[in-house]
Order: sequence, then C-alpha cells, then structure tokens
Amino acid sequence: MDLCVIGCGYVGLVTGACLAEAGHDVICTDVDSARIAQLNAGQVPIYEHHLDDVLKSARAAGKISYTDDAGDAIRRSEAIFICVGTPPKENGQADLSAIDNVARQIATEALSPKLVIEKSTVPARTGLELRRALNAYSRNSAVTFRVVSNPEFLREGTAVEDFLHPDRIVVGVEDETSAAQMREIYRPILEQKFSCPVHNGACPATADVPLLVTTINSAELIKHASNSFLALKISYANVLADLCEKIGADVNEVTNAMGLDPRIGGQFLQAGLGFGGFCFPKDLQAFVHLAGTVGVDFDILKAAERVNKQRIDRFLEKVHQALWVIKGKRVALLGLAFKANTDDTRFSPALEVAQRLVNEGADVHATDPEAVSRAKAVLPQVTYHEDVYDTLRDAEAALICTDWDEFRNIDWQKAGSLMARRLVIDGRGLCDLQRMRELDFEYFSFGREQLRAHATAR
Ligand code: UDX
Repeated sequence: MDLCVIGCGYVGLVTGACLAEAGHDVICTDVDSARIAQLNAGQVPIYEHHLDDVLKSARAAGKISYTDDAGDAIRRSEAIFICVGTPPKENGQADLSAIDNVARQIATEALSPKLVIEKSTVPARTGLELRRALNAYSRNSAVTFRVVSNPEFLREGTAVEDFLHPDRIVVGVEDETSAAQMREIYRPILEQKFSCPVHNGACPATADVPLLVTTINSAELIKHASNSFLALKISYANVLADLCEKIGADVNEVTNAMGLDPRIGGQFLQAGLGFGGFCFPKDLQAFVHLAGTVGVDFDILKAAERVNKQRIDRFLEKVHQALWVIKGKRVALLGLAFKANTDDTRFSPALEVAQRLVNEGADVHATDPEAVSRAKAVLPQVTYHEDVYDTLRDAEAALICTDWDEFRNIDWQKAGSLMARRLVIDGRGLCDLQRMRELDFEYFSFGREQLRAHATAR
C-alpha cells in the first residue's frame, strides 16, 4: 500500500522504516527541509538502535523516500500516518497545533479519499476533533476522510524492535473498512513476515500479535492509561526505596520478589532518579489534565508526578551529605540521556542534576555514550569527555545518573585508583554493593544499604 508519514521524528521514522521493511511504499515528509535533506543524503538525524539499518535497506529496495513537498506526499498515498509532536503547554495540556496544521494540509491537498491515522500521542477525543477539522478545512466535497487512532508503544532505544515485534497493535476506528485497511497495513507484522534487522532472521518465537479494534476514544485512552500506569509503578518503587532505606531493607530484594507475582510483573520497578524523557512526564500531565476537564480527580497520578520530581532532590541530598560542600569540587557525572540506549536528553533527570550542580558551583565533568553533543548545547558550563575513565580522573565523587551498560561494567578498581576520593552516588542502582564494599568505596544508592566512610575499613 502507498503510505505517507508526516513528521520525521523518532516515531515517524521508525514507523516509516518498519512499514517500508514490511513491504509498503512509504513517503516521509517534514516541515523541516534540512531534516529531509539529511535523510535524502543517507544520514539518520536521530540515534535509534537499528533505525539506520532499516532505513538503509528500505532505501536500497526503493521502498522509502523523503520529500518536503507535503502536498505531493499526501496526494500519492492512500493512508497517512500523523507523527508530529504534541509538546506540553504550561498548564500540562497537550499542544495540538501541529496536528491542526497537518489536518489543514491534508484536507486542502488531498484529491482522493484518505485514511488518516493519528499516531502522535494525543488526549482522548482528539481523533473526533481531527475528523471534524478535516471535513471543515476540505474544499472538495468528493474527497472523504476516515480517521483512525493507532497509538504507538515505542520505547526509545528499542523502538524498531517494539514496532516489529509488538505486544499488541491498537486501532481505534469508526467503521469496519478502516479496521480492514489497518489490518492490511499491519499484516506483515501480524504474520511476522519481514526480514528482521534486530534478530538477523532468528527472531525469538513469540505468541501471535493481537490486533485490538476499539473505538477512537478508547484507543487514545489506552496510550495515556498505559504510560501513566507505568509511571505510577516507577514512583511506587521509588517511595518503596525510601522506606527500605529507613527500615534497613533492600529495595531490589523486595521488588524482585514482588515482580514474580504475574499480577504485578517485574518490569518498571527499578528505583532510582525517576522517569524522564519526552513521553512519561508529558503523558502523565496531559492525562491528569484531561481527567480534570471532565471532573475526574486523578489524584494518584498527581502523587506519582510529585514523587518523581522529588527524586532529584533526594539524589542531591545524598550528594550534599557525602561531599558536604559542593562548590569548587570536581564531580564526575556519568550519564546525560534520560535513559540508556538513546541520545535523548529531553526532561532528563541526569541533565537536571548537572544543571543544579553547575548552579551550586561544582566543577562538573560529564560523559555519556550518545548524548554529549545534545547536552553541550544546553549546558556549556560542563566539561565533557568521551572516555568514562577520563571523566572519573581526579573526581571527588562519581554520580551515576543514566543506566547505560557502559557504566554498569566500569572497572571500579581502576576507577578508584584514578579518582581523588572513592565515592559513588548511584542514582540508577547499577553497582554491586558487595564489590563496592570490597573495593573500600563510600557508596550511596536508593533503597539499599549506604556504605559510609566510617563503616569502611580504611
Ligand atoms: C515510553 C513508553 O515505555 C513507550 O511505550 C511509549 O510509547 C513512549 O514512552 P520511553 O519514553 O522511550 O518509552 O522510555 P521508557 O523505557 O518507558 O522509560 C521511561 C523512563 O522511566 C526513563 O527515564 C527510565 O529511566 C525510567 N524508568 C524506567 C525508571 O526509572 N525505572 C524503571 O523501572 C523503568
């Protein structure tokens, strides 16, 4: 099928690349002509694992192309995926102006019926407004539009894998024709028939992928409800960690055991610096706001948000307790991205920690496997390093802020010999407590035993 993707951010590019890999003809467009030029030159403007491979192979097969002529892209396609940004406004409400612009563009440029698929994360009822807008902006009464909500559940860093091997595909529709068309678009994925760049032809056997057909309102709610629930789970683990610290229990022991109950599940119970990124914080806010507009007080989500904001304060309390005076001290900040395997620093707890340390006059040295150039643009006061051991050299403390494997695998014996003081404040719980004790480190993390200087044999 001829498909168009509007918006070449990570969701749009992953959607376009994977659907092209699955055999469709995809044309991608964006208002940012520089981005289109980059894509046409074979460059991938974002770091997303496997995305460059899929884009390269889809391009070589002639299945994907890029243009800044949105009208042409729209006219050439039967189905259009809207993948534009919906950033939060000051009051937490999602800003839907990009969706409105795209609706106007589709309505004015289309010369034949279109299936318009809303993939951007939007509050419930947006699909219905989108249909109204398409009809209102259209000048050609012979052109009809059918609207579908098809929320994405793509984690940054594993988005290609999530798209090709999904837990579920949700399509919110108003009629059976739209459902049938969506089933056709996703057929190669439902049947798992594509050449998988992630597993090189050896994909793990998985259960059949369910395609859930719902109303548009339900589909939109599913996305926000899922992300908000996961955010709630993380905040639960974080409060639990605080309690474990006070009581003298180990949060990992507690959450491991909890997670073995299939009704709870072990994922998203990792205590630490809390959640960031462009989805969870904004989705949570938008969901609370949406509930408020219809008179439903989603108080538990407000608590989850409050807990999350306090994680940075809790982390910095640990830094203050360990270092006493921060001003002028050299600290090594390990991690800038909001989580591992991405270069995304938007709403990154790590960046917030860096900013607050800079404000307090610390001499911050930082590293991240992918996010240094993005961080540099917003925090030029920090000294950046490529190598983790260069970052640690002469530091009075190592602060772990992102859960990269590179930091999990640090040789702390070597690091200890380079650092000015053997002190680690681990915001992601990556280090082995026993090992840090053996190496005579002062070691502080969330919800576990704190290894203080006076308790270690020096
Ligand atoms: C999320 C959703 O998972 C995805 O389905 C959705 O479509 C987009 O939003 P993403 O923002 O890429 O994906 O990040 P995710 O992997 O979900 O992690 C979110 C944040 O929670 C990160 O900052 C991560 O460090 C934090 N986190 C995650 C924890 O603090 N503890 C955990 O146990 C898990």
